[in-house]
Amino acid sequence: MSRVKQSFQPIAPPARLLMGPGPINADPRVLRAMSAQLVGQYDPWMTQAMDETQVLYRQVFQTSNEQTMLVDGTSRAGIEAALVSLIEPGDRVLVPIFGRFGHLLREISERAGAEVHVIEVPWGQVFTPAAIEAAITEVRPKLLAVVHGDTSTTVAQPLDELGAICQKHGVLFYTDVTASLAGNTFRTDELGLDAVTAGLQKCLGGPSGSAPVTFSPRAVEVITARKSIEAGIRTDGDAVSAHPIRSNYFDLAMIFDYWGPQRLNHHTEATTMLYGARECARLIVEEGIDETVARHEVNGRAMLSGLRGLGLEIFGDTAHKMNNVTAVVIPDGIDGDAARGAMLNDFGIEIGTSFGPLHGKVWRIGTMGYNARQDAVLTTLAALEAVLRRGGAAVTAGGGVGAAYDVYDDASRLAVAEPDAAAPAAATEPDATATEATR
Ligand SMILES: Cc1ncc(COP(=O)(O)O)c(C=O)c1O
Repeated sequence: MSRVKQSFQPIAPPARLLMGPGPINADPRVLRAMSAQLVGQYDPWMTQAMDETQVLYRQVFQTSNEQTMLVDGTSRAGIEAALVSLIEPGDRVLVPIFGRFGHLLREISERAGAEVHVIEVPWGQVFTPAAIEAAITEVRPKLLAVVHGDTSTTVAQPLDELGAICQKHGVLFYTDVTASLAGNTFRTDELGLDAVTAGLQKCLGGPSGSAPVTFSPRAVEVITARKSIEAGIRTDGDAVSAHPIRSNYFDLAMIFDYWGPQRLNHHTEATTMLYGARECARLIVEEGIDETVARHEVNGRAMLSGLRGLGLEIFGDTAHKMNNVTAVVIPDGIDGDAARGAMLNDFGIEIGTSFGPLHGKVWRIGTMGYNARQDAVLTTLAALEAVLRRGGAAVTAGGGVGAAYDVYDDASRLAVAEPDAAAPAAATEPDATATEATR
């Protein structure tokens, strides 16, 4: 290899409007928080920032779970931590699969040594609670692991009745809310969940790299029963389990002690990610969790109406569609990748491709986090119309923006008529020059 010195320009990414299924543009407040200087990880200021982060995420998750914290890594770090810490080799796990991320739960559970049983529906559909209960009765799993909103198909599995079903059958209940948290109504404790994991890069308005997680006392009992403090930091009397968690990095029993008053010296906190995650939660708590969900609902509805207004077909069971992402069928005669390329190169807008059986058939368009905003929705619809028209598709002139405007007009009328109703800020205060303030 050449020993010639090579240097490059400082990072200067192009301006992009990220309207895919995530990541989306991070909220500028999150980026600013992440540019703050580091402090030592046991500095009292830092441990207080960690405590505050826990308090903030309890509100975002709508839980009183003591064990609510961050796992360092992208969303799948949270998933791996939950599954490897809850599952002992040989445990039975039931995974209802309705998209790509159900397959991920299966894969991670298998790698954790579980005997995994799956039930499947075609992508775009969800399960009835009765179908899940029937599988639980047959399989008698230790754990039900189900994705809430599967970004690959845009639909969300209703969780309402599953908590009571799991309780009745003595099953632990886990869900992945990476794609849905803060964009759709979700209340951990009301749903009877034992374990929930998320990520920042969708409705939370941050970059990927930190996974907020929460665990019920029942899950904590299962996890701490396997506690094994690693050699080197273990002191006399510290736990050494005969069935330790099969990962050191994702050992939640140690991670609980790291976040708890023991401040166990497990890993070096990803301080900058913690600053970002804390600011994501601060933004949501400031806006109000219900108001954040309402903002996603209005902007998602505007995008859905706009796409229909262009004459496009929507994929999947729209009755169960997540608020924050829409899958739209690529019109006949249009090359999906070429059109996405034109959106990016000509307008600086990214929309998403799709996986598996949907690849080449649908685009996925997100309206989430910082980009769940009127200007972002209208700009995307206008650009898509131009790209489709240029590609030869018959789209309704002005139909996309017009239909989206109708949704915003209705939402503002409703907000004026009912001043106490959750009023999405972006719908009522358009301000192209100060999107940061209007969000
Ligand atoms: C529902 C869901 N789960 C898990 C993941 C994996 O997240 P990450 O790529 O942050 O590890 C994603 C990513 O898009 C997702 O949408």
